[in-house]
Amino acid sequence: MKATISKVKNHVGGEVTIGVWLANKRSSGKIQFLELRDGTGYIQGVVLKNEVSEENWAKAKELTQESSLYVTGTVREDKRAPSGFELTVTSIEIIQIAQDYPITPKEHGVEFLMDHRHLWLRSSRQHAILRIRNEVIKATYDFFHDHEFIKVDPPILTGSSAEGTTDLFHTKYFDHDAYLSQSGQLYMEAAAMAFGKVFSFGPAFRAEKSKTRRHLIEFWMIEPEMAFCDHEESLKVQENYVSYLVQEVLNNCKPELKAIGRDTTKLEKIKAPFPRISYDDAITFLKGKGFDDIEWGDDFGSPHETAIAEHFDVPVFVTEYPTKVKAFYMKPNPERGEVVLCADLLAPEGYGEIIGGSQRIDDLELMKERYEAFHLTDPSYKWYLELRQYGTVPHSGFGLGLERAVAWICGLDHIRETIPFPRLLNRIYP
Ligand code: 4AD
Ligand code: MG
Repeated sequence: MKATISKVKNHVGGEVTIGVWLANKRSSGKIQFLELRDGTGYIQGVVLKNEVSEENWAKAKELTQESSLYVTGTVREDKRAPSGFELTVTSIEIIQIAQDYPITPKEHGVEFLMDHRHLWLRSSRQHAILRIRNEVIKATYDFFHDHEFIKVDPPILTGSSAEGTTDLFHTKYFDHDAYLSQSGQLYMEAAAMAFGKVFSFGPAFRAEKSKTRRHLIEFWMIEPEMAFCDHEESLKVQENYVSYLVQEVLNNCKPELKAIGRDTTKLEKIKAPFPRISYDDAITFLKGKGFDDIEWGDDFGSPHETAIAEHFDVPVFVTEYPTKVKAFYMKPNPERGEVVLCADLLAPEGYGEIIGGSQRIDDLELMKERYEAFHLTDPSYKWYLELRQYGTVPHSGFGLGLERAVAWICGLDHIRETIPFPRLLNRIYP
């Protein structure tokens, strides 16, 4: 019977056939141990010289790393095996003998591995990380659907910029100029006025000349937007969402967290509500920590974010940044126009900002003033202003960077391992 490694538990004592690759092989005289993987998991195949035909024994001998085959065998329970099961091989059908697989079990440099990313994905560590990414994706859909959000897909080719013009990817749209989306937010605001609570999940593009451990050129963002929702209510959704992501990974990805050596005691502490610190207090805090140059009105860089986040062992919201360092659409605090009703959520352990969010300007006249100040005179912004003209309501939303969240949950040194094919400042291959 055809099976997958993840489902062999249903066939104990029975015979199954599984399509697999050979990850590794050991032999000791009359036994060959095949470490097999099929994408759903790993299992050890045991080939006993005295129990298989000469032909099958020879085929097992011939197998090299990453050779592909159909293996048939009897499933045995084995408490010592990492998967809990073992396969006593009865026959082998070789699909291909792979020659000179470049990624061997020895150490390789990062650039070498990145050049072979299309193959590196097969390694157990990369496999575990991308399964955790998959769990975060599934938990995202579950969370928002359970809370009555509708998924809306904003366009990727756009005529306007959502987050400022400095890092836009320019392209041509027939005879017109167009850009790859930096954020779907402006469209999600339109969608919130139609559906109330919406979320998007799509790629975002930033032509940022930053070569850091936290920046990708192409990344995936989850952008919820909620009508009749103020800043404070939005923060509650954010902390509940992030707690849910972490709890779902803890519950459903135990073997993967173990495979990458993640200290899960740190993740077990991640439960809403999260602490909040105002930008004002953050400035005082940073000065106390020896950041003498920082002045009220400056934006934070990663050393500042790290210093603040290190003070907490759960994510922390930094709230109400100066109006002048934030985007044109953020609503000023009605009692203090120099700050906006926004927050960045900083992950613990130095992973930096995982969420940026705010209440949006809902007043037509104020938005017109912002258009003047930010020179948004281009007709491509006309529709966004109209959202404030026809039944405007208080509304808020946020964006979570999927790869930043996965890097933190997995405890990785670099964001490049959190996405199958990373686009980095110096890399678009493979
Ligand atoms: O803070 P950002 O720029 O916010 C927005 O785009 C808003 N329009 C979101 C909204 O309110 N709907 O980006 C949101 C998040 C950041 O907190 C970060 O996690 C991630 O997106 N992010 C990046 N991740 C990887 N590489 C990059 N270059 C990133 N830039 C932002
Ligand atoms: Mg931000």
